[in-house]
Amino acid sequence: MSPEQGGGLLQCKVGQVSPQLHGKSIVCCDNEDLCNQDLKPNYSPRTTTTPEPPLVNTNTMPLFALVISIAFCLGLLVLVLGAIYCMYRRREKRKPAYLMNSLYNTTNGHMPIADLVEQTSGSGSGLPLLVQRTIAKQIQMVHSVGKGRYGEVWLAKWRDEKVAVKIFFTTEEASWFRETEIYQTVLMRNENILGFIAADIKGTGSWTQMLLITDYHELGSLHDYLQKRVLNPHMLKMLALSLASGVAHLHTEIFGTPGKPSIAHRDIKSKNILVKRNGQCAIADFGLAVKYTSESDEIQIAPNSRVGTRRYMAPEVLSETLDLKVFEGFKMADMYSVGLVFWEMARRCITTVRGAKNTTTCEDYALPYQDVVPSDPSFEDMYAVVCVKGVRPPIPQRWQDEDILVVLSKIMQECWHPSPAVRLTALRVKKTLVKLETDCTIKIV
Ligand SMILES: Nc1ncnc2c1ncn2[C@@H]1O[C@H](COP(=O)(O)OP(=O)(O)OP(=O)(O)O)[C@@H](O)[C@H]1O
Ligand SMILES: [Mg+2]
Repeated sequence: MSPEQGGGLLQCKVGQVSPQLHGKSIVCCDNEDLCNQDLKPNYSPRTTTTPEPPLVNTNTMPLFALVISIAFCLGLLVLVLGAIYCMYRRREKRKPAYLMNSLYNTTNGHMPIADLVEQTSGSGSGLPLLVQRTIAKQIQMVHSVGKGRYGEVWLAKWRDEKVAVKIFFTTEEASWFRETEIYQTVLMRNENILGFIAADIKGTGSWTQMLLITDYHELGSLHDYLQKRVLNPHMLKMLALSLASGVAHLHTEIFGTPGKPSIAHRDIKSKNILVKRNGQCAIADFGLAVKYTSESDEIQIAPNSRVGTRRYMAPEVLSETLDLKVFEGFKMADMYSVGLVFWEMARRCITTVRGAKNTTTCEDYALPYQDVVPSDPSFEDMYAVVCVKGVRPPIPQRWQDEDILVVLSKIMQECWHPSPAVRLTALRVKKTLVKLETDCTIKIV
């Protein structure tokens, strides 16, 4: 057979060095047509193997093998990563439908709220609106846990999970709107800020119901908690540090995409701080909050007639000297209120009585300025006490006996300084408290 017909190894090349001389038997003839029909090549298998001539230089063999295997592995890795990426993209596209399925699907078990929230964008701006509305429809109210100036808070159930539902009074639409908007600010989620689940508004022209669904914390507000419980120094540090961390997160502007505006709360008080089971605080109630982005240098004040709680108002707010165009001023006013909350916490921290090793003591729970203003103080009452007389809550002598109380009393006094520029920032307070070692040995009996 000629090479063009693909004869290859079957070609007769008698006398030449060619592959068929090794391990094959070929008999050749060319004396007449079809002369090969009677040929009987005699093939006897070899008993010893003669080494095949190496195709490539043996010295380069390991290197060659290495390069091939690395290339193969890289190729495989690229393929696997590509497949994972495609799957991720497909799942992202299906997400709303997928989340909705998990809301309605009761047969295959269901996703807890924390996982549902986790499934949404990493920016932490909340669940898709359709999902929020569906959750709101599936809520079952259990009982009321408290009433405030702007609405009533209920313990409710979503499937087996406890959630808190704040039903806003019909006149408080602006508060609902503002709070919903703030909770859905990108990068707002933080362990020291109350976890937002869903918001919903429904009704006709004459009647509207506005709901805000959040995590439920059975220990209630810090105000409730401090009335019933005392703290050891370690618990006090946890509460104070977590409050400072939450406020620092709110106040800090994050640059980049996505970025987070700086947020001032404007209604910080012990009733608007919840106590979590892990002993940390979660800041709630954002109906009055303001946002600020340095890029646009614009302070977005809520279209909301609400003012903060007079008892916790900073002197510059009471005297109406706060410059509404300077955002730093709102943050410093928040720090004044944080100082008062630290004072409420510190009073409930037990210390051992000097000379009596096994006896502990602390002050009773009190609201700031409780003994100098009436129970629902007017602007004038607060102005006279805080701005004119310059009164601040008293620092008991026993606080000098415990490190955390010494540090916290210094911090609170710097926070409620009459001059806003002198006050500590939330980040400064957080850093000071982080460094502090506390005593866990004092037992609450
Ligand atoms: N997420 C929650 N988990 C558990 N309890 C809550 C939750 N949110 C609020 N509460 C309870 O409901 C009460 C009422 O809260 P609400 O915010 O309506 O009023 P307030 O904070 O007491 O007063 P204000 O209207 O001045 O803010 C709180 O004091 C607290 O005890
Ligand atoms: Mg509140």
